[in-house]
Amino acid sequence: MRGAVWWGLGRYAERVLTLRDVHKSYGSTVAVDGLSLHIEAGEVFGLLGPNGAGKSTTIGMAVGLLRPDRGSVELAGLGSPTKASVRRHLGACPQQIALYEQFSGEENLLFLGKLHGLDRATRKRRAAELLERVGLTARARDRVSAYSGGMQRRLNIAAALVHDPQLVLLDEPTAGVDPHSRHALFELVRALKSEGRTVVYTTHYMEEAQRLCDRVGVIDQGRVLALGTVDELIAAHGGQSVVTVLRDGPGGGAEEGEPERIETDDPMREIARVAAEPGAREVRLERPDLEGVFLHLTGRSLRD
Ligand SMILES: Nc1ncnc2c1ncn2[C@@H]1O[C@H](COP(=O)(O)OP(=O)(O)OP(=O)(O)O)[C@@H](O)[C@H]1O
Ligand SMILES: [Mg+2]
Repeated sequence: MRGAVWWGLGRYAERVLTLRDVHKSYGSTVAVDGLSLHIEAGEVFGLLGPNGAGKSTTIGMAVGLLRPDRGSVELAGLGSPTKASVRRHLGACPQQIALYEQFSGEENLLFLGKLHGLDRATRKRRAAELLERVGLTARARDRVSAYSGGMQRRLNIAAALVHDPQLVLLDEPTAGVDPHSRHALFELVRALKSEGRTVVYTTHYMEEAQRLCDRVGVIDQGRVLALGTVDELIAAHGGQSVVTVLRDGPGGGAEEGEPERIETDDPMREIARVAAEPGAREVRLERPDLEGVFLHLTGRSLRD
């Protein structure tokens, strides 16, 4: 198997997509600045970074729509995705909705199936399956221009899956999606993974990366700042946990004392110690998260 490596607990992993030292500028704006990463078969990989970090430019190069100024992109065993014959092995969902508004949802998927060279029966079956998967069966015959923003998003994702790709790249698939649809989308990503597909997912919401992704690349200013599992990133860059203790007031009566904040690498030990104290009423634990990782790495918040 090409590019195969032993990884983690004896799990057999193959590098399905490799970006090596890619650079891309638009005029004088450097969008991607020497970025390297690989995607392993069967994983959900999250590219996490703030607005303007270079996520979409990276995805554009990964799916062969943009040519790097320098560096290389390779789909394992196939070569550069700038070649159409290579590109058809992947499914790309762009950040901007890319649908024919005057056609129905079903017509959009049938048309894309035709572009991918699927026969009529396969096109029909795939379109029906995908509309079902993204919860649009009841609206299949309505024009896309009559869909809500969230429905258009869902169809945009279905459009990336028409040709049954093994590698799927989703660029901010939850932008402008309500919590219910967002949850359904998480389920879809999990289902794609359980079918053995590989998913690359960009977001600036750390909660999404934290919930969905096997590995995360934190990106800012066109560079990968850190890469690993969520737990690895938090352990390496997240900073300390905070244990907050509320104690009885000085009089020991109903009033509470001032909360005490304890920063620690070993929160369980602190909690056990505090819980054994007489007068401790309540203990709260805040563990570091990916937001803390980003803050540590850049001195800035992901949320701004
Ligand atoms: N077509 C373009 N022409 C000029 N500059 C561009 C173009 N596309 C992106 N840029 C610039 O390149 C940088 C990276 O943009 P990119 O869209 O890759 O970031 P992003 O991480 O996807 O951001 P967002 O979270 O807002 O989608 C930004 O400074 C952006 O302004
Ligand atoms: Mg983007």
